[in-house]
Amino acid sequence: MITVSNLKKEYGTVQALKGISFSIAEGEFYGLLGPNGAGKTTTISIMSTILEPTAGEVNIAGYDLRTNPIECKKTIGVVPQEIALYNDMSAQDNLLFWGSLYGVSKGELIKRIDEILHLFGLHERKNDKVKTYSGGMKRRINIASALLHQPKVLFMDEPTVGIDPQSRNLIFEVVEKLHQSGMTIVYTTHYMEEAERFCNRIGVIDSGQIIAQGTLDELRKSSSIKETIAIAFANLTDELFQKISLAWPEVKRFDQTIHFFTSNSKNDLAKIILNSNELGLDIVNIEIMKVNLETIFLSLTGKQLRD
Ligand SMILES: Nc1ncnc2c1ncn2[C@@H]1O[C@H](COP(=O)(O)OP(=O)(O)O)[C@@H](O)[C@H]1O
Ligand SMILES: [Mg+2]
Repeated sequence: MITVSNLKKEYGTVQALKGISFSIAEGEFYGLLGPNGAGKTTTISIMSTILEPTAGEVNIAGYDLRTNPIECKKTIGVVPQEIALYNDMSAQDNLLFWGSLYGVSKGELIKRIDEILHLFGLHERKNDKVKTYSGGMKRRINIASALLHQPKVLFMDEPTVGIDPQSRNLIFEVVEKLHQSGMTIVYTTHYMEEAERFCNRIGVIDSGQIIAQGTLDELRKSSSIKETIAIAFANLTDELFQKISLAWPEVKRFDQTIHFFTSNSKNDLAKIILNSNELGLDIVNIEIMKVNLETIFLSLTGKQLRD
């Protein structure tokens, strides 16, 4: 359905994309997971024809983006990271405006807007000006406006950043419904929980490059970190944490708990306990956790996904 080949983008001297390639099958839910500044928005903006690439190709539903942008645009709905709505207009009028840009006929559009406002739980507020809406409600209208022309493919760029939990859950429900109905979805996020929850396949992006790609299981198998040993201490100090970090370089501290990232928890657990005893650290709890996307990212880059 979508093929992206060797996409490059330079902003002056900044190399935002250094050759990104991936393909997405019809009906797939593809996640682009990476920290701020990784190149997610740049990738989505190029795929949405908002931005010109420096090099590389994008093919959507058999159409080349460069030679056939209009056909590509008909196929896709785009939910940009920055919400674009007219605050002094009602939700209904905003949707009428966006829908008319796509050339949907007025009669069809009114029917469609009605359905979509119900889907997003905003029907009762449809005549209120958007400026009276919460951030989450604006986000829902923003997503709704991308769906008016019934696109086969939906691009969503960090659609849940900075919104209330109620709106977030509703967006999750709608997105899952759309996926079940057969829509192909490309979803960018820096929240690993979202990528784990929804995505059939995940591309891990960092510094303008896809550094790993696959299903969650495939990514887990390829990770050098296999487990996280989380140990809570009663008397952890900065000084003791320093000492422990010397023996175990791959650690992260959360208050009184240390996460030790390991490829062999059977071996390492005994050593860590011994080491802790030697340092006079009192252990209050031990938990061994399976590798998640956060640790996979750490194992690939040496960095936290959320710094
Ligand atoms: N208009 C721009 N001018 C210059 N640099 C930019 C511009 N837009 C993005 N960048 C840079 O390109 C890189 C990728 O940005 P972006 O695609 O927005 O990342 P993400 O969406 O993953 O946070 C970052 O280093 C960012 O600072
Ligand atoms: Mg972005």
